[in-house]
Amino acid sequence: MIRHSELYFLWVVLVPAAATLMLGQEPSASLAAQTSTNDGVSAAAIAGAKEDPAAFQRGSKAYAKYCAGCHGALARGGAGAPSLVRSLLVLDDEKGLLIAPVIREGRPDKGMPKLGLSEPEIADVVAWLHVQTYAAGHRGTYTFGNVVTGDAQKGKVYFNTTGKCSTCHSATGDLAGIGSKYEPLSLQTRWLQPREGRRGRRGAAADSKDSDAALPTVTVTLSPGKSFSGVLDHIDDFTVSLHDADGDFHSFTRNGATPKVEVHDPLKAHTDMLRIYTDADIHNVTAYLVTLK
Ligand code: HEC
Ligand code: HEC
Repeated sequence: MIRHSELYFLWVVLVPAAATLMLGQEPSASLAAQTSTNDGVSAAAIAGAKEDPAAFQRGSKAYAKYCAGCHGALARGGAGAPSLVRSLLVLDDEKGLLIAPVIREGRPDKGMPKLGLSEPEIADVVAWLHVQTYAAGHRGTYTFGNVVTGDAQKGKVYFNTTGKCSTCHSATGDLAGIGSKYEPLSLQTRWLQPREGRRGRRGAAADSKDSDAALPTVTVTLSPGKSFSGVLDHIDDFTVSLHDADGDFHSFTRNGATPKVEVHDPLKAHTDMLRIYTDADIHNVTAYLVTLK
């Protein structure tokens, strides 16, 4: 049951509409299930969450000192203070933009005091929380020691039939060796939330193939035979802009259907499918992908 509720928790991240239904009780037994490594998360979860291990360690101490008394040792909630691994604010956070103000200012009227952490301490606590939410969201797939729990054979069937994965991918083609390329936690993120798995690496690594591979593209056709294609930069009712293969920037004014604009998001299938997978599908497909060595 704990595994399932943790997996549902993943859907809370992905399908905010479902959140209200899922934010039910806190499985307190999960405390016992996750004490095998420091703070109950493995090095894999730290890597998967893309946080700095040193920041995580420091954050662990700061969290224990300032926060654990109210929010619980593993942020699963405590008397009078909510779970932070199921907080939508924490889940939606990027780089502390949402969490840091709450730590800085507190919510004194609601029982969360202003605690006087330094900015570096806040950043470390944020890193620690990101790892906790990542680990909680992926726990359904793992037992400790990184043993994948799904049924690879069922995952293979799903891949080739119901999941329609094989219409775009091939186990011996583009996905050959994927099980060796990534450790299981990040492999799961890469297929479940492909955009998410890459986010945060753009910018700095904007020129790397990895971060650009699955960006939406657009073709703008001005007249028959005169069109521009490239990576979509921006689109609204009035303008559309793109970077072409040479890196040149083009921007066009839109007026209704003129010019003709076709947007192609290569990850649309993945995004659409997020609403369809069951827990078992997720476990099984990951188990199958792990076998593609
Ligand atoms: C004295 C108890 C207490 C301490 C200590 C405390 N909190 Fe809280 N915290 C609360 C309460 C109570 C709330 C709920 C406030 C509300 O209802 O808006 C809360 C809310 C939050 C929220 C917002 C959650 C949401 O979904 O809106 C975050 C984030 C948070 N705390 C993080 C922390 C962190 C990080 C620390 C340590 C640096 C910490 N808290 C220390 C009691 C505490
Ligand atoms: C309509 C086409 C389409 C379908 C259907 C589809 N995918 Fe994908 N998938 C993509 C595209 C496009 C990417 C991004 C490829 C890239 O970045 O090079 C991707 C990325 C991935 C990746 C990450 C590959 C990497 O190297 O990071 C995995 C794993 C994956 N898909 C698995 C699946 C599975 C499992 C299913 C079925 C449940 C599925 N895909 C269904 C188009 C599709």
